[in-house]
Amino acid sequence: MIELTTIIDGKALASDVEVDARERAKKLAKRGIVPGLATVLVGENPASQMYIRLKHSACSRVGIRSENVVLPPESTEIDLIARIQELNSRSDINGILLQLPLPRGLSPQRAMMTIRPEKDVDGFHPQNMGALLLGVELLVPCTPLGIIYALERLGKKLEGAEVVIVGHSNVVGKPLAAMMLNRNATVQVCHVFTGDLARHTRDAEILVVAAGVPGLIKKEMVKSGAYVFDVGINRVGDKTVGDVDFDKVSEVAAAITPVPGGVGPLTVAMLLRQTLQATENQNQNNPTD
Ligand code: GUN
Repeated sequence: MIELTTIIDGKALASDVEVDARERAKKLAKRGIVPGLATVLVGENPASQMYIRLKHSACSRVGIRSENVVLPPESTEIDLIARIQELNSRSDINGILLQLPLPRGLSPQRAMMTIRPEKDVDGFHPQNMGALLLGVELLVPCTPLGIIYALERLGKKLEGAEVVIVGHSNVVGKPLAAMMLNRNATVQVCHVFTGDLARHTRDAEILVVAAGVPGLIKKEMVKSGAYVFDVGINRVGDKTVGDVDFDKVSEVAAAITPVPGGVGPLTVAMLLRQTLQATENQNQNNPTD
């Protein structure tokens, strides 16, 4: 029997999410509420500038008003915190996203802690991260949320599933591990210091790779029938590739995300959802309900 591999079309899934987001924005508009997202970019990192553009154009497609605050690369922590506090105090801003990475010398943790937790659409504030670890998912990081969404859409059961995550960052690996545990998966988290990576990855029914190393995951490291999510975005020559050897791993995986066009569009789509969630939460006791 020939087993067909599903190429997970992140753009198609994201466009379904946008349909739903547009509906939610319309419902809010009927109550006189326009969801507002502010992004904050420090410096001129071209990749960050591109991600910010993608986020703003997605907002405009669904009826979220968005604005981009750009600070010069030499900004101090005091400058950055002052701008965040200004956005915290504005009632027309429901979500604040601080684009990472920050220029050297600025602490992402201290800046994130300044964002009001109710407006923290990235889910990076310690209060939101802490709640996540305790099993309460308020606002959660967008990339892990996108992966969970895709798995739900694919009908993949998470309870009891063997999940292996390669990469233990605050943005992907750690929050995804917590979200998987909240859904009763069995989770292994590997990283750059893991001795024998293949010994772990071969266990995975669901393999998520966020290491930033092109071609790290080879066919021999993947169990037949695995669901593979490639979070890596690497420039190799003039091509953008992930961390997974896509052509070869596709031969054994049940489902796999391409790069580009896989996890990236899902992350942006989840930002829309989080912004709407934050806006709805902030207007829960609004008398126009
Ligand atoms: N840089 C890389 N991924 C992310 C993300 O999900 N959110 C933010 N704010 N910055 C990032």
